[in-house]
Amino acid sequence: MDLNLKGKVVMVAAASKGMGYATALECAREGAIVSMASRDKDAIEAAAEAIRQETGAQVKAYAFDAKDSASIAHWAEATLNELGPVKGLLVNAGGPPTGQFDSFSDDDWQDAFELTLMSSVRMIRAVLPSMRESGGGSILAITSSSVKEPIDILLLSNVMRSGVTSLFKSLSQQLGPDNIRFNTMIPGKIDTDRLRGTIKAQSAKRGISEEELSKEMSATLPLQRFGSAEDAGKACAFLLSDASSYITGVSLAVDGGLIKTVW
Ligand SMILES: NC(=O)c1ccc[n+]([C@@H]2O[C@H](COP(=O)([O-])OP(=O)(O)OC[C@H]3O[C@@H](n4cnc5c(N)ncnc54)[C@H](OP(=O)(O)O)[C@@H]3O)[C@@H](O)[C@H]2O)c1
Repeated sequence: MDLNLKGKVVMVAAASKGMGYATALECAREGAIVSMASRDKDAIEAAAEAIRQETGAQVKAYAFDAKDSASIAHWAEATLNELGPVKGLLVNAGGPPTGQFDSFSDDDWQDAFELTLMSSVRMIRAVLPSMRESGGGSILAITSSSVKEPIDILLLSNVMRSGVTSLFKSLSQQLGPDNIRFNTMIPGKIDTDRLRGTIKAQSAKRGISEEELSKEMSATLPLQRFGSAEDAGKACAFLLSDASSYITGVSLAVDGGLIKTVW
């Protein structure tokens, strides 16, 4: 299937590794012009170069911090000026810290709000005028299975990502007439540094090896394996592309069957 991304500008946030990187790579493989960003300038430059080498696509790297309103605006402005109208945006960032209700201060809640929810608002705001003017586009956010089944130690993530899901559903209704689509991708257990970090911490706590815990965790999944970053990246590239032109307001789980709810 041709995703019809050739020559289209796609912005991918938090893309130096993991699912952001995999999405940037899949879009570049499909011929998109990719604007990728994360905090670490060297890491994002290296990631962009790796994608250029593999695909020959036009790829630009920018440093930005999803918590910082000015750097989001700067990334979007530079992309529009240097690459042209944006047709796709992947909203993504690192996840908020783990912990229990009693351990979080107002500052922790505020930080999570800035990182996860306000960054989404600001990234959307930064590309909206250009998308409206150029006849539409697709905006996608990476959330978490915690929006369907809250995860005990990820309280901040559970709450803020539910807000993101609601934001995207609301905007799919409001901005459909502008031909701007809003969807979210729900990762289950995707094999990235983020998941490996969690496994390392939990295995130390339980006194078992990381390998043992990984086996135990993946055995509980219907597909019996963790997802790869590529599994997630392919789904994101599809939702960012015209191949999904009649899909808006949905949350697509890429979770190997992890989520047990019917809806
Ligand atoms: N992997 C999973 O199984 C899973 C499941 C559910 C939800 N999630 C969520 O999905 C998102 C992506 O996860 P991942 O597994 O792909 O993570 P990852 O492999 O650890 O990659 C995280 C990426 O985010 C960038 N980043 C972190 N904080 C940032 C910030 N404040 N501003 C801009 N960029 C930032 C990092 O680059 P720099 O360090 O250069 O900034 C890196 O490129 C996270 O929010 C994670 O919590 C993951």
